[in-house]
Amino acid sequence: KKIIIINGPNLNLLGKREPNIYGSLSFTEFFDTVKAKYPKVTLEHFQSNIEGELITKLQEVGFTYDGIVLNAAAYTHTSIGIGDAVKAIETPVVEVHISNTFGREAFRHESFISPNAKGVILGFGLQSYELAIQSFL
Ligand code: DQA
Repeated sequence: KKIIIINGPNLNLLGKREPNIYGSLSFTEFFDTVKAKYPKVTLEHFQSNIEGELITKLQEVGFTYDGIVLNAAAYTHTSIGIGDAVKAIETPVVEVHISNTFGREAFRHESFISPNAKGVILGFGLQSYELAIQSFL
């Protein structure tokens, strides 16, 4: 199976950014562990702080890959463009958040991704990504 994790803005700072909310592990450290755990899965990772680059990547992989794990970060709550891209592609998208966005500010309760996602996993820290990968296996 071919699965890609797509991370949005500020997630390149994982491990350094608000560790009380997002933990102290860097994404690279986490990603290496997960890749080792699922050797049969072709697992890729893409991160961008730029909305259009996230849309371009969704279009690129969205007709051939088996699964997309998407943490659009702050764009989750603002981007009609990313929401439309998720709707336009064929590959199922599982929306992921590290934190429980429903326990946080009201502006984090809205998502332009959820209506077109296969499912949503949030609040389990970095384990949210692993649960999303498992959902495709
Ligand atoms: C996040 C939650 C978003 O509200 C926030 O803007 C992020 C990270 C999460 O993974 O918990 O950057 O998507």
